[in-house]
Amino acid sequence: MRIPERFRLSSEPVTKAVRGLRLVGVRNAARTVLYPLRLARMNQRFGGPQGPGIRASAGEIVAVEAMPDGLLLHLEHGIASIQAITPHILRVRIVAAESMPPYFSYATLPEAAQPTPFSWTEKEEGILFETTAARLWLTRPRFGLAWADESGQWLSPGTAELAWEPSGGRLHQRFPEDVWWYGLGERAYHLALERRTYTLSTRDPEGYHPGDDPLYINIPFLLGVHQGRAFGLLWDRMSDGAITLREDGGVEYRILGDEIRLDILFGPEPAQVLARYADLTGHASLPPLWTLGYHQSRWSYEDEATVREIAREFRERRIPCDAIHFDIDYMDGFRCFTWDRKAFPDLPGLIADLHAAGFKAVGMIDPGIKVDMDYDVCADGVKEDVFCKLPDGSLFHGPVWPGECYFPDFTSPRVRTWWGTWYKRMVDAGFDGFWNDMNEPTIFGGKTFPPRTQHELEGQGAAHWQVHSAYGMQMVRATLSGLNRWRPHQRNWVFTRSAYAGTQRYASSWTADNFSTWEDLRITPAMLMNLGLSGLAFTGSDIGGFHGAPTPELYARWLTAAVFHPFFRTHTAKGTPWQEPWRYGDEVEAICRDYIGLRYRLLPAIYTLFWQYATSGMPMMRPLFFEDPTDDVFLAIDDQWLFGDHLLVAPALEEGMRRREIVLPAGTWYDFWTDARIEGKAVIERETPLDRVPLFVRGGAVLPMGPVRQFVEDNPLAPLELHIYPGTGVSWLYEDDGEGLDYRDGGYRLTRFEMTCDGSELHIRRTISGDWHPPERPITIIFHRDIAEHVFLDDIPHFVLNNQVQINEDTWQILKATIV
Ligand code: GLC
Repeated sequence: MRIPERFRLSSEPVTKAVRGLRLVGVRNAARTVLYPLRLARMNQRFGGPQGPGIRASAGEIVAVEAMPDGLLLHLEHGIASIQAITPHILRVRIVAAESMPPYFSYATLPEAAQPTPFSWTEKEEGILFETTAARLWLTRPRFGLAWADESGQWLSPGTAELAWEPSGGRLHQRFPEDVWWYGLGERAYHLALERRTYTLSTRDPEGYHPGDDPLYINIPFLLGVHQGRAFGLLWDRMSDGAITLREDGGVEYRILGDEIRLDILFGPEPAQVLARYADLTGHASLPPLWTLGYHQSRWSYEDEATVREIAREFRERRIPCDAIHFDIDYMDGFRCFTWDRKAFPDLPGLIADLHAAGFKAVGMIDPGIKVDMDYDVCADGVKEDVFCKLPDGSLFHGPVWPGECYFPDFTSPRVRTWWGTWYKRMVDAGFDGFWNDMNEPTIFGGKTFPPRTQHELEGQGAAHWQVHSAYGMQMVRATLSGLNRWRPHQRNWVFTRSAYAGTQRYASSWTADNFSTWEDLRITPAMLMNLGLSGLAFTGSDIGGFHGAPTPELYARWLTAAVFHPFFRTHTAKGTPWQEPWRYGDEVEAICRDYIGLRYRLLPAIYTLFWQYATSGMPMMRPLFFEDPTDDVFLAIDDQWLFGDHLLVAPALEEGMRRREIVLPAGTWYDFWTDARIEGKAVIERETPLDRVPLFVRGGAVLPMGPVRQFVEDNPLAPLELHIYPGTGVSWLYEDDGEGLDYRDGGYRLTRFEMTCDGSELHIRRTISGDWHPPERPITIIFHRDIAEHVFLDDIPHFVLNNQVQINEDTWQILKATIV
């Protein structure tokens, strides 16, 4: 595979000084060369040999045992098991031990495993293990793996090396040279992952630029696409490791510890792989509707007067906003679950006033609990024995914001319950959502916990190095279950900086401490798409950049593009200039007002995307290759994306860019702004003045929209607009009360629109399911092509004015219109 120049990171050193914060030098080639050194350092960090303690190849298959769900293979060095989890998911475990240890995973759900028929045949060259959808060869004489999908196409033609090193395992698996790789969680790279080494670990880089690695989130999941056929690889281990995507297509995997675990997911459609990944690692739940609105944050709005002023400005300037975030300075000396009574003398009163004005309050909580026996959380934690300990039994402590801190052991169910208890105070104070930060876990000085820090790990016991990447995930698990205890009838919302595979079950996320640079903006859609391809789709970036200060142009470009990101929040670091939408002059303020307004107008469609994600694992932001995974252009493109089934977004992401090229996939597209019709597959150009994000709607779409609202609950009786873009296709509209849990028992309304357009006759069939009744709002049907002056709804003629029809009754099933 050759990635077109436009989608490659520069191989030149990128050296930037951003507000004197730090210098960053990136040279990709050097990174690959440096990798062995880094791994050696990593091993050192984890205290030398921690793995099998041998240096050997896994060797030959010595004996084979049939198990109810697969095979157990005794190897010369170690043992392996092959399990059919479903016909489309195979699990391979290779362990440097004599017997197979019990399976434990934070990433995968036990209920994902279904009784799956499989067969196996012993042959001279190996054992063929088959389900109805997958074929896996266990090769001889040296044990290795090769697999093909149901079409018989080889996805991996074999193992080049499978070996144990004293510190861990190494599996070098061959893949075709022209395979394209995606996913791997949070990577500051282009969408199509470059051939290089990626570190598997959660780390706090304290600010990063394109090309820096690793970052806060470690999701060891790769989505491969080869000749249009997609497959997934989940390397489910929480210890540190590395994946090298080789020039020849091969993948070299190295991991600390004595187990290599690989779940192979078969497609062949990318969407099918993601659906299977969601079934395997868990689906995200529907978030409360307000989290889809605009959020405003900074580190920090430091006192009550500032928060009130920010809220007032939004309402006075008529810039929609749903949430104001309270970063760490609201706390009393950075003590979690407290607040500063001088700066916030009446925090509950302040939050109640925010609520009355239509805002929600989001509060930060970090894992570090200040070592201070006069602080109730610390004293109680010591008494209840919830903090992580070192092997000698002493409490581990390390410096973070409040100074020396203890850290709860979130791998213990008892500790998670204890942690959840403290949220009662925050919920009682009125906080609506929570922001869990610093949970890589981070210790100041670029550090994390010492490798031998003890964890309970659900009663099994483990050292920190064995569970490192899942610490943040277990923290948000604890947070969410606490909130569910205190607010059992509500959707609770948490977002996290660190995550591991499966974290979408508990939290959403964001890409954290980026910089106010054009390079950072350019890389953002790729980062968000790769997170979505790793199961964690409800993400966004700090709009305008965290470190540094954006120019008005950069802020406007970032915010207008982020309308089409799942999480939509401005945030900035301490010491930077104000970063609210009105700080950049009248022109930018007006642009921000209009585009935040557009986000609110699109909410019915966007909420429907979240429903799709929750039910099928389909990310809201989708790469163009979902349209055609055989075309190299679509496989590489990452400065445009699909926002759901029907919208294509192509923002200007470069300084001074006033015109850009746009690739439209096959089919009919409508320019959102002009209704011009364009036939894909085509490369077109559009002007991109500062107030224009090129946006296209697929022919055949019914795009549900609403009015501009100042916050999601504002004006519930305003008309629902159904925008009709003639063509052939299926559209959905998902609605419910936006906050409760009744939707799980049928308390929703799902509308399906099936449109056909045969020459001039347009026909839409509408079907409804679910028990929920929306408020009695009028409905406006808006046609984006000229139609005859009557439309028929269930054979009753309705008068058309300006291509619009107003109806009050929401009962129609068949719409017929004639295009003129
Ligand atoms: C971390 C977070 C950032 C936050 C800061 C202070 O750097 O990533 O978003 O503002 O800590 O809490």
